[in-house]
Amino acid sequence: MRKDLIALVLAAGKSTRFKSERSKLLHPILGKPLLQFSLDCVFQLRPRNVHVVVGYQKDEIMKQPLGKNVGFVVQEKQMGTAHAVLAAEKTLKKELENDVLILNGDLFFLREKTLESTLKLHKKANNSLTFLSAEMEKPGGFGRVIRTENGGFRIVEERDALPAERRVKEVNVGVYFFKIKHLLEALPEIKNENKKGEYYLTDIIEIMSCKGRKVDVFRIPHTEEIIGINDRSELARAAELLRKRKIKELSKKGVTCLDPATTWIDFDVKIGMDTTVHSSVIIEGKSVIGKGCMLYPFVHICDSRIGNKVWVLTSTVIEGSILEEGARVGPFCHLRPDTLIKSGAKVGNFVEMKNTVFGRGSKAGHLSYLGDTEVKENVNIGAGTITCNYDGRKKHKTVIENGAFIGSGTELVAPLKVGKGAYVGAGSTITKDVSPHALAVSRKKQIERPGWAKKKIKK
Ligand code: UD1
Ligand code: CA
Repeated sequence: MRKDLIALVLAAGKSTRFKSERSKLLHPILGKPLLQFSLDCVFQLRPRNVHVVVGYQKDEIMKQPLGKNVGFVVQEKQMGTAHAVLAAEKTLKKELENDVLILNGDLFFLREKTLESTLKLHKKANNSLTFLSAEMEKPGGFGRVIRTENGGFRIVEERDALPAERRVKEVNVGVYFFKIKHLLEALPEIKNENKKGEYYLTDIIEIMSCKGRKVDVFRIPHTEEIIGINDRSELARAAELLRKRKIKELSKKGVTCLDPATTWIDFDVKIGMDTTVHSSVIIEGKSVIGKGCMLYPFVHICDSRIGNKVWVLTSTVIEGSILEEGARVGPFCHLRPDTLIKSGAKVGNFVEMKNTVFGRGSKAGHLSYLGDTEVKENVNIGAGTITCNYDGRKKHKTVIENGAFIGSGTELVAPLKVGKGAYVGAGSTITKDVSPHALAVSRKKQIERPGWAKKKIKK
C-alpha cells in the first residue's frame, strides 16, 4: 500500500452524447462496467484509499460492487471536472502532505504500468502536478495540450480552441497526479469562463504554472488504443478492441478460437488449455471453462462453470449452471440457473432444465422439461418427459432415484418421488410416489374397433 497516495475517480457526469437513461459509466464492455476499468487500474497502484465522485445516477453507481474500501463523494450539481474535485475538498483537506491521483471515470484503456511510470516521474521530479498526454492521429473531442514558449503548458478544450490549437495532436488523457496542498491552493481560482460555462480542472495547469508550481507532462508511448468513450459507436469500438485482445490472450494460453471474428468472450471469463471454441460462441460473466472442452457454434454460456472435457453442442444456452467433467449437452438445449449436470451425464436436443441436479451417467435425450428436480445416477428420462413443478402459486420438487426409467411422454406431477430402479410406463401422468423397483402406468387401456377406419372411408 502507498501511504502517501489517495485516488479520486470522477464519475458524476451525465454524458449527454451517450443518450442513455443509465450513466455511461455503468454500460459494460465485455461484461465489465466502464467505470470498473479505471478503478481496477487504480487499485493496482495500491493507493491508501479510493474515492469516487458521483452525481448523475449516483444511487445506481453506489450499488455496484466496485471494490473494497471505495468511498463516495457526492457532487450534487454537475458543473465541471474542477467542481467535481471541489466536492471532495473535505476529504482532500485531511491529506495535505500527500498526493492524489485524479482521473476520469471513462478511461477504459488505461494501463497500470502507465500510472506507475507517471507516479515515478511525479515523485522523482518533485512535481506539484504531473498529467498524462498522448499523441493522437484524430484528436477530435479531446482537450489539446498547448506547449507555451517558456516551456510551460496549458490545456484548451476542443470547443474553446482556436483553429491552430485544434490542429495540435497532443491531447489531455484525463489523468493527473497532484500534491494535494498545491491542488487545493489553486482549485478555487478556476473560473467557468468558457463556452460550456463549466469549471474545468484542466485550467489548473495554467494557474499552477503562474504560481511557480512545478507542472510536467508524461506522454503515453502507445496511443493507438486511446479511445474516449463519449458515444455508442466509441463504446462499440472499445469493445471490439478488448474482444480481440481477450481472444489473443486466450490463444496464448492454448485455447483454440476457430473464428475470432465472431467470438465474444467476456473480460473475466477463464478457459482451460486445449478447449476449442467454434464460431459465434458467446461466453459471458464470470464463467469458467475447463480443459479440453468443445464448444460448438452458437453456444451461449453465462456465469457458469464447465468442467474438463465437456462437450457443448450447437445452439445450446447455459446460464448460472455447473457442468462436471465429461458431461455432454446439446444441441439446442437450455440449462437455466442452478442446474448441475454431473459427470458423464448426457442432455440432448430441446431439453430444458432449471434448478435441477442431473446425476452421473443419467440421460435425457430429447424434448424434456425438468424443473426443481433431483435426478440421481444412471436414470433414463424418455423423450418428452415433463415435470409439472408449478401449481400456479408454488414450485414443487421431483426426485428420481438411481437407475429409474421414465418412459417417453410422461408427466411427473410434483411433489413426487420415483423410487430406485422403478419404471414409469410411457405416456403416463404420474401423481403419486412410485415405489422402488415397481412399474407405474397411468394411461387408459387401448380399445380397438376392427375395420372401423375402412368403413369410415367408404361413406
Ligand atoms: C475531459 C477533459 C479533456 C480530456 C478528456 C479526456 C476537462 C475539462 N476536460 O473532457 O481535456 O481530453 O476529459 O477524456 O476535464 N465529471 C464529473 N462531474 C462533472 C463533469 C464531469 O464527475 O461535473 C466526470 C465525468 O463523469 C467523466 C469525467 O469527469 O468521468 C470527465 O468528464 P467528461 O465530460 O467526459 O470530460 P471530457 O469532455 O471528455
Ligand atoms: Ca470524456
